[in-house]
Amino acid sequence: MRYLTFALAKGRLANRTLEILEQIGYTCEEMKDPKSRKLIFTNEDQKIKIFLSKANDVPTYVEYGAADIGVVGKDTILEEGRKLYEVIDLGIGKCRMCVAGPVKAKELLENGGLIRVATKYPNIAKNYFYNKKHQTVEIIKLNGSIELAPIVGLSEVIVDIVETGSTLRENGLEVLEEICPLSARMVVNQVSMKMENERITKLINDLREVLSNNNKDNKDYKDNKNNKDNKDNKDYKDNKDYKDYKDYKDYKDYKDNKNNKDNKDYKDNKDYKDYKDNKDNKDDNNKE
Ligand code: PRP
Repeated sequence: MRYLTFALAKGRLANRTLEILEQIGYTCEEMKDPKSRKLIFTNEDQKIKIFLSKANDVPTYVEYGAADIGVVGKDTILEEGRKLYEVIDLGIGKCRMCVAGPVKAKELLENGGLIRVATKYPNIAKNYFYNKKHQTVEIIKLNGSIELAPIVGLSEVIVDIVETGSTLRENGLEVLEEICPLSARMVVNQVSMKMENERITKLINDLREVLSNNNKDNKDYKDNKNNKDNKDNKDYKDNKDYKDYKDYKDYKDYKDNKNNKDNKDYKDNKDYKDYKDNKDNKDDNNKE
């Protein structure tokens, strides 16, 4: 059995993600040693590896197959726009992506004039203003403390994450428009999903069960239930992630057909080749 590799976003989400993974039996005792300088941790019994990386890099590791599975905020997934399967909403790290600014900026937003927007998320901001609002704006990329921008006159508004709202309040700013809700999601490499289907599907099902049990005990249960109900509705089915997942499911049905395993077309399949090359590389690395 080959290793299943997890890339987790460093920071607030990592510990909560590890707790959830532990609940489904994936543990990495080595990671709990605060003195450790190791970057990647292995559980030989479960054949898993876990590493922490900058949140922005998680989708990159997963798209390229350096990690089979990643856990990262929806904000990063949207901003990075990588080719991945988003398979499960972990319901942790809930917050909102918003347009915020001083109250007087509301008028500028309504008039649709040319304004400056400071943000750590230029792609999300572009998509919101250009494609959704059809408003031409100047987007200024910053790397942190975004709330400073309208205070010192760098921009009229910001696009940023709002969690408790206290950073905005303490700086005399407020939410002017809401772009989308955010939370941590599990993402899967598209080839791993096909080739390690049994293990990954079990992992997803186990996670769903644990999350639903956890939710029953907490007050967010209702929100999550609404989420689940939405999965059955048309909007969800029109969603690109669902379509990708559906394509993958069709592929899985095809793969489950035993005869296809020996079929030449299957082995000629590009995904299979990519996976095989990747796997051979990993095996070579492991031998070294
Ligand atoms: C994030 C975000 C806001 C703040 C929102 O910043 O960019 O500044 O949290 O949280 P609140 O609504 O609970 O106040 P982060 O702490 O990640 O640091 P950054 O400013 O360097 O991006």
